[in-house]
Amino acid sequence: MTAPLIRIEHLSKEFQSGGGFLSRPRSMQAVRDVSLAIAKGEALGVVGESGCGKSTLARLVLRLIEPTSGRITFDGTDLTALPPAELRRMRRRMAMVFQDPYSSLDPRFTLARVLEEPFRVQGEALAPDRLAGMLAAVGLPGSMAESHPHQLSGGQRQRVGIARALALQPDFVVLDEPTASLDVSIQAQIVALLAELRDRLGLTYLFISHDLGLVRYFCDRIVVMYLGAVVEVLPDPAARPRHPYTRALMEARFAPDPAQRKRLAPLTGEIPSPFALPPGCAFATRCPRATDLCRRETPALSADPDHPVACFHPL
Ligand SMILES: Nc1ncnc2c1ncn2[C@@H]1O[C@H](COP(=O)(O)OP(=O)(O)OP(=O)(O)O)[C@@H](O)[C@H]1O
Ligand SMILES: [Mg+2]
Repeated sequence: MTAPLIRIEHLSKEFQSGGGFLSRPRSMQAVRDVSLAIAKGEALGVVGESGCGKSTLARLVLRLIEPTSGRITFDGTDLTALPPAELRRMRRRMAMVFQDPYSSLDPRFTLARVLEEPFRVQGEALAPDRLAGMLAAVGLPGSMAESHPHQLSGGQRQRVGIARALALQPDFVVLDEPTASLDVSIQAQIVALLAELRDRLGLTYLFISHDLGLVRYFCDRIVVMYLGAVVEVLPDPAARPRHPYTRALMEARFAPDPAQRKRLAPLTGEIPSPFALPPGCAFATRCPRATDLCRRETPALSADPDHPVACFHPL
């Protein structure tokens, strides 16, 4: 196996909230002791329900926010120890595509100006003859260069978001729910574009989604998160889930009624507050297989390196 492009070791992020006149500050662990590696050219998926820490993990990996503890290594360099100037240079090789192309593009800017921005940040200029090529690479006509974001459809806007992410020819791209705000038919086009760009440019992806079905279609391996921690890593998209939570995510995908999909249909029980996690397995309150052991002790990710799962009673 080749050396991984990204290595994450025991990464944790704690947020404080409150702490005013009448309230004591409360802290929660948005990301809890996450370790994983992404090989060059791999597309690694991260799935989990809203609030499980996916975006926090994404920001940590690019060091847009500082971890509470743990380490991120990018192509052999420890990012967590890098001084700002070197970090900026390193960031050329990394990019992020955001969930919402409406709010992530400045409405005052033309597309030409939007695509120029990453160069400005690096103190460089965008050669005018490159602009049309950047737009063409994401399937947009060069004539759109002087358009403003509001003149574009949602799918077109996300294409601009992707072009901007690819502007400096990164090796690694974090895609944080890149299709969540788009219609289903447009989603498919964007996913196809991302797959084609990956093949053509040899990109490495961290693909974040709440939709296990989408991630299975797109990714080589899949990390499943629950309340900030990794509960399972599917070694390939067709692997059968071992964690009861992963199975619930999979079944929810096929629930006919959208309300059920939202509620993770097969599960009953409450999600614990991230500010007061119970002892033992965080999933035990909703798990059909939970026993006293699960409510008492926290399962570690199993030693099986081919298919890690954190569960005392895997499927
Ligand atoms: N800057 C912050 N300050 C305090 N709490 C935060 C902050 N950012 C995130 N959180 C909390 O951390 C937890 C994880 O949030 P995060 O945005 O990473 O989840 P997510 O999995 O991306 O959710 P979604 O699917 O809704 O995007 C949430 O409980 C959130 O409220
Ligand atoms: Mg998010």
